Amino acid sequence: MSHSTDPRPMTARRSGPLRGVAQVPGDKSISHRALILGALSVGETRITGLLEGQDVLDTAKAMAAFGAQVERLAEGEWSVHGVGVGGFSEPEGVIDCGNSGTGVRLIMGAMATTPITATFTGDASLSRRPMARVTDPLALFGAQIAAREGGRLPITIQGAADPLPVRYRTPVASAQIKSAILLAGLNVPGETVVIEAEPTRDHSERMLAGFGADIRTETTAEGHVITLQGRPELRAQPVAVPRDPSSAAFPVAAALIVPGSEIRVPGVSRNPTRDGLYVTLLEMGADIAFENTREEGGEPVADLVVRHGPLKGVTVPADRAASMIDEFPILSVIAAFAEGATVMNGVAELRVKESDRIDAMARGLEANGVRVDETKDSMTVHGMAQVPGGGMAVSHLDHRIAMSFLVLGLATQAPVSVDDGSPIATSFPDFLPLMQGLGADLG
Ligand code: S3P
Repeated sequence: MSHSTDPRPMTARRSGPLRGVAQVPGDKSISHRALILGALSVGETRITGLLEGQDVLDTAKAMAAFGAQVERLAEGEWSVHGVGVGGFSEPEGVIDCGNSGTGVRLIMGAMATTPITATFTGDASLSRRPMARVTDPLALFGAQIAAREGGRLPITIQGAADPLPVRYRTPVASAQIKSAILLAGLNVPGETVVIEAEPTRDHSERMLAGFGADIRTETTAEGHVITLQGRPELRAQPVAVPRDPSSAAFPVAAALIVPGSEIRVPGVSRNPTRDGLYVTLLEMGADIAFENTREEGGEPVADLVVRHGPLKGVTVPADRAASMIDEFPILSVIAAFAEGATVMNGVAELRVKESDRIDAMARGLEANGVRVDETKDSMTVHGMAQVPGGGMAVSHLDHRIAMSFLVLGLATQAPVSVDDGSPIATSFPDFLPLMQGLGADLG
């Protein structure tokens, strides 16, 4: 669904110590994949803990449009009766993926090797984002693609009738490209191979294996080589979605920067391909304990206990970027309160997210009195003992930018405002009540 909601200005004010338990929502990446693999399986997939943010709801609607039976049973509990690999039917209308890059890229992959035609669209943010990175490899399978200039949405894909297996080296570190190719490879005879220079989030590989696909990952001189055997019969599975480490990052950051805070964040995924922020925070001296480490839904999870304390600036190496790609906006907020500079290297991909996140963070931090240096692919935030605040940040239809600046304002001298907090609903619909429940003064 494209969002026609009016802009919703929000403000955060300096708050007293944050206390309590933050039950953050289900993982967005895993929620999309559970719906898509459920739709491509035979039988009923029961999903618990599904994120009911707008991005995922748009994917649920899309799966129904391709012929799956998708039903909400209770809060976070969904049932998907799949149509099997190759069983998608042609949707009657346009598939509107709203704000979601993951949704549109994975679904384009999932339908590109079935002989049906579908047209994809999205909101103003998604319509600016590069799609050729996915449609180029899908064309190698034999799909016919018509896109707007520059490979942008809206895009129409005529799926390949006789798809050929593909061996593809991803040009940028991207789990969305990898996953689109793997999902396309499901309906292809023979082996589809994706090679990535650096590992990206591996939820698709884990879940495909869980649904019975023959998939393996090897580390060779070429890089990470993922090989999928085509035309498996995917068997419906129960999926328990762990809590999202990218959403957890917001209350965690708030507790780190608001003096006297101590919070608990239970059941957060600690998948090593998503863990870069937490590795970085420990290097900065953050007081974070990981308790009850266990496995849930095929993913390692832990309960986080986070306390306020002094932080120091660090240099984040480029080879860590993929494992924390969505966390740089909130890291740049935390860095504003650290002693010294925090240097983030190898972050060019931030420029093609829901917004240009380097530009959005740099301008918003500067408006609140923080010094930031940027290059094409790096960002440096200079920490200070007292962060002035008092400025307005522009969210550019980007949920993570809006939430980052609201967290900033909980510890600045003067309040921080964002022009539009409505995009927060795409990934973290209960952000405001959850933060208010911890004692944060925002709204
Ligand atoms: C995602 C992959 C990442 C990430 C996005 C979710 C996924 O994008 O930024 O929020 O679920 O595969 P890229 O693949 O473009 O890095």
